[in-house]
Amino acid sequence: MIRGTRIQLQTPKAEQGFAMWQLASDSGVLEPNSSYAYLMFAKFFAETCVLAVEEGIPIGFVTGFIPPGSPQTLFVWQIGVSAAHRGKGIGKHMLRELLRRLESKSVCYLEATVTMSNDASKALFTSLANEYSARYQINECFSAEMFPEGGHEAEWTYRVGPIPIQS
Ligand SMILES: CC(C)(COP(=O)(O)OP(=O)(O)OC[C@H]1O[C@@H](n2cnc3c(N)ncnc32)[C@H](O)[C@@H]1OP(=O)(O)O)[C@@H](O)C(=O)NCCC(=O)NCCS
Repeated sequence: MIRGTRIQLQTPKAEQGFAMWQLASDSGVLEPNSSYAYLMFAKFFAETCVLAVEEGIPIGFVTGFIPPGSPQTLFVWQIGVSAAHRGKGIGKHMLRELLRRLESKSVCYLEATVTMSNDASKALFTSLANEYSARYQINECFSAEMFPEGGHEAEWTYRVGPIPIQS
């Protein structure tokens, strides 16, 4: 539960993959992926995913995983908050929840790729870094030319850490 609200941060169950797909599809910003992808995350990567629920209604989600070969890193594949709930700290609460949950696994870096036109996303990750007094590095992950469909912006990796997590 986020203090002072009725919002619960849950580890998704497989059947809640649908809710994450719906939030991503409705976001107007996130690339729509197949419903299968969200079901797969909810079933096989639940520990590195969060669903934010207010009075039974899903209002935010994170899909993430720990990359093979980088066991101290949480890679955030997608994060989204429903339009009506943005700017209230829910995005940061979900990321903090994941970092707290993964502390026992010595996860102390957070990575995500963002496009340079996405101000909210850039602000989210830099704000998190500032909160933990952690460094962050920005490197190109996928250049625009790597996307076969054309018209796609480059994706830049924000790598935050090491993050000194305190339970
Ligand atoms: C990105 C997103 C998940 C952020 O979630 P949120 O709950 O609105 O973010 P928060 O309220 O936790 O804000 C986190 C920080 O970002 C800042 N921020 C949030 N939205 C912002 C915006 N539109 N422009 C500039 N800064 C913004 C906040 O001020 C806060 O910084 P602070 O704590 O230092 O003041 C949300 O805007 C969203 O769902 N966007 C559409 C999907 C998307 O772009 N996902 C990211 C793809 S990588």
